Amino acid sequence: MSQTLRQHAEQQFAEELEELKKADNRERPENWVLSPWAVAEYLMGGTLANGFQVSAKYIGNRRLMETAIATLATDRALLLFGVPGTAKSWVSEHLAAAVSGDSTLLIQGTAGTSEEQLRYGWNYAELLAKGPSKAALVPSPLMRAMEQGKTARVEELTRIPADVQDTLITILSEKSLPVPELGSETQAVRGFNVIATANNRDKGINELSSALKRRFNTVILPVPASEDEEVSIVSKRVAELGRALQLPGEPPALKEVRRVVQIFRELRNGQTEDGKTKLKTSSATLSTAEAISVINSGMALAGHFGDGVLRAGDIAASLVGAIVKDPVQDAVVWREYQETVMKERSDWKDLYRACREQN
Ligand SMILES: Nc1ncnc2c1ncn2[C@@H]1O[C@H](COP(=O)(O)OP(=O)(O)OP(=O)(O)O)[C@@H](O)[C@H]1O
Ligand SMILES: [Mg+2]
Repeated sequence: MSQTLRQHAEQQFAEELEELKKADNRERPENWVLSPWAVAEYLMGGTLANGFQVSAKYIGNRRLMETAIATLATDRALLLFGVPGTAKSWVSEHLAAAVSGDSTLLIQGTAGTSEEQLRYGWNYAELLAKGPSKAALVPSPLMRAMEQGKTARVEELTRIPADVQDTLITILSEKSLPVPELGSETQAVRGFNVIATANNRDKGINELSSALKRRFNTVILPVPASEDEEVSIVSKRVAELGRALQLPGEPPALKEVRRVVQIFRELRNGQTEDGKTKLKTSSATLSTAEAISVINSGMALAGHFGDGVLRAGDIAASLVGAIVKDPVQDAVVWREYQETVMKERSDWKDLYRACREQN
């Protein structure tokens, strides 16, 4: 097994991508590795004509993925938008891997992202020695994507200051990046496009200017519609992560996953699943991603310090950390949930007790 802690999507799923390429006889947009149909198969999973199983990456509405893929085949860029933990970054990585065979042309948007990071910088030793030249220019991932006709990814677009965001306008509308120092420009090769992600919840986000908004098609990724859907996402990802991290112990019982997902959904929605009890909501983002990490930490506890079977006590410890972000308010919310909901469920006694011990 390779020593890399986390492989890129195109490395981890190289075999699937290869099989899809062989089976794919549909038309491909220029410089795409796969046809739009095959990209959708890669994301949603399925069985190929030769019996090969492609695993599902995104669990949810197929039409959303088709819309996203179709957008990438046009001259408009794609914006994946939604609340935290709805797989925006995950989908963006897999789309880039399937469309361009490369998910690494990535810019992480922060409040400190500069225009240079979006455009290009200079190798100063080279610049001082020989003056501005093509050799001294250090292209950004975006510029390289333009040159190679690939997909560039911009993570957390709305964290980037508004004036820096506007650098993207020329690139997206003119498909060109001028380099005035050299009196030249880089013109995007066919196949180039941009996938940006943004979430609407975080502190410190900037508005997307309307000029920039018009260059994007927005696809909103929703929180999982039903409990069953969320349970299947969590089970699947936990199993994959457990394998990747080589955690000792058994994969978690479905019953434990279901309980964690139910707690998260109830606290998120402010009421119990049967709608009978109203609840206060926690200030923490209780997304699918957090449910995954609660189970994952529980598995690490069970594997390293228990008998390898995930039990209530292993979950309780990480549940508190996920739910109680504000020590005053959230502690009240969590206490109330334990006493009014958990305590009353006859098959939740073990979890109730384990959580009480954490208080
Ligand atoms: N519908 C889904 N299908 C498959 N995996 C999902 C789904 N929803 C969430 N996940 C999983 O949740 C985890 C977190 O997703 P990701 O980091 O992409 O979220 P995000 O939307 O980018 O969040 P943020 O806004 O915090 O950046 C991933 O491991 C992903 O596999
Ligand atoms: Mg993200």
